[in-house]
Amino acid sequence: MGLLKVSIVQLFGFVVLSGLLASPIWATTQYYDFVIEETPYTRLCHTKNILTVNGQFPGPTIEARKGDTVIVSVHNHAGYNITIHWHGVDQPRNPWSDGPEYITQCPIQPGANFTYTILLSEEEGTLWWHAHSDWDRATVHGAIILYPRNGTTFPFPQPYEEIPIILGEWWNANVSEVIADALRTGGAPQISDAYTINGQPGDLYSCSKPGTFKALVEHGKTYLLRVVNAVLNNEIFFAIAGHRLTVVGTDASYTKPFTTDFIMITPGQTMDILLEANQPVTNSTNNRYYMAAWVYSSALNLPFDNTMTTAIIEYINGTSNSSTSPQLPNLPSHNDTDSATNFTANLRSLASEDHPVDVPQTIDERIIISVSVNEILCPNSSCGGPNGNRLAASLNNLSYVLPRIDVLDAYYQNISGVYGTGFPSQPPFYFNFTADNLPFSLVFTRKATEVRVLEYNTSVEIVFQGTNLLAGENHPMHLHGYRFFVVGRGFGNFDQGKDPASYNFVDPPLENTVGVPKNGWAAIRFRATNPGVWFMHCHFDRHFSWGMDTAFIVKNGTSPQAQLLPPPSNMPPC
Ligand code: C2O
Ligand code: CU
Repeated sequence: MGLLKVSIVQLFGFVVLSGLLASPIWATTQYYDFVIEETPYTRLCHTKNILTVNGQFPGPTIEARKGDTVIVSVHNHAGYNITIHWHGVDQPRNPWSDGPEYITQCPIQPGANFTYTILLSEEEGTLWWHAHSDWDRATVHGAIILYPRNGTTFPFPQPYEEIPIILGEWWNANVSEVIADALRTGGAPQISDAYTINGQPGDLYSCSKPGTFKALVEHGKTYLLRVVNAVLNNEIFFAIAGHRLTVVGTDASYTKPFTTDFIMITPGQTMDILLEANQPVTNSTNNRYYMAAWVYSSALNLPFDNTMTTAIIEYINGTSNSSTSPQLPNLPSHNDTDSATNFTANLRSLASEDHPVDVPQTIDERIIISVSVNEILCPNSSCGGPNGNRLAASLNNLSYVLPRIDVLDAYYQNISGVYGTGFPSQPPFYFNFTADNLPFSLVFTRKATEVRVLEYNTSVEIVFQGTNLLAGENHPMHLHGYRFFVVGRGFGNFDQGKDPASYNFVDPPLENTVGVPKNGWAAIRFRATNPGVWFMHCHFDRHFSWGMDTAFIVKNGTSPQAQLLPPPSNMPPC
């Protein structure tokens, strides 16, 4: 189905990495064709057209090695505008191919093409790609697998095989209509009908048995699970019956291995996990185990899809008696914030000689950002949100509105009136952010398109401060163009006098998406050495659509290696 994949070895000469001139290396370029089309899929006894890439759901996997270049030609054969984002790829100096609509490009219109150049640099492990236009990413997504460079190896024993695990969320309704309806009425979007593992809900749902994803394993071997959370609106607990999981990486960065019975993964995050197939294979057991996932829902009283998706691990050479059900794992209960927190606290960078960390010890700027769900007043209480108002969401009480010309183009060409540069360094007013029963007057926000300008090479700390307005909950905050160190997390209000003393500068995890604890805070650090326009937003799509977003403009530095690459000639017109 129109999928071309060619590998060409190229001598790049000198390759610029993180602004430093590295030694000459051989890197390869891979080419892919992505045809966006509307394809009929049946799930839960319900057939509908979904947007796909090359007819596949989930879409094709991109495989490359650390430092390679991947060229993807996107051909839009569907009737919707679309863009594609390479989630977690830093794209040094190349925001042109980053993908968020109206931030770095205008959408690829029906019938049009656009070729993305994905510049891989330091990422190694698992990332993913997804549509970055409306809620198209519900079905337009796939894994990016980044192997060690030739001549280097994983920092753990070579696994026998790899098993991709892409977690998704399924609506029987048309997803574009789900979000369009919510935005029209001002109410909450309809909840989903299922979660999926590799596109399949699994056999606990009606009509789903034949398609259930099954991984065959051999006793005594170790498998590398590459887990991607492509769910739209929920964090997920995931576990496998009868087996423990050893986490070795997250967001394409290695971690100190740690063993756990379950993981908690936010939308946007990835985890690399070793699975030892160590259960006995006998003729008296059925030699099959469920892997299962359901929601971690930190908000109180918010409706959510509480169903469970499953897939199967089956030992080969065993008898598989499919008349008895596989064993189910124990997942923490939906509201188990302690389990989520304890799991997340175990994520530490590997910080080895081969995989060192470079955590900014001092900062030039600390930006404190309140993260809230809000209301916007509706005339005559005529909206579908609480109190007849319109639901909204904000960062520092600004609810981001996407402009009509992309911010990158406006910045590059000095077009005024598209965005403002007034995104504040502090919440506009301080209150007890995480208290119960906050005064109703605080719930309102206003719409704006304000970004934050950073000088090249600024050492930045961002503290995300969750609030308890409307619904305190965990927010998966994602930054484009950078990976950042999560130096601290905590519950309650961030205390600038006390909390930095407990930061981890030794082995904090390097992530592109951080779950900000419910009614708590998270502190991240990065050095602004990637010039461009870089979106930052909550990776819950409902919050994203309600304006829990902003962008950074990182200015050029003085050396030629510190400047934006020129735009490609075929940027989609607005
Ligand atoms: Cu995975 Cu801006 O997104
Ligand atoms: Cu959020």
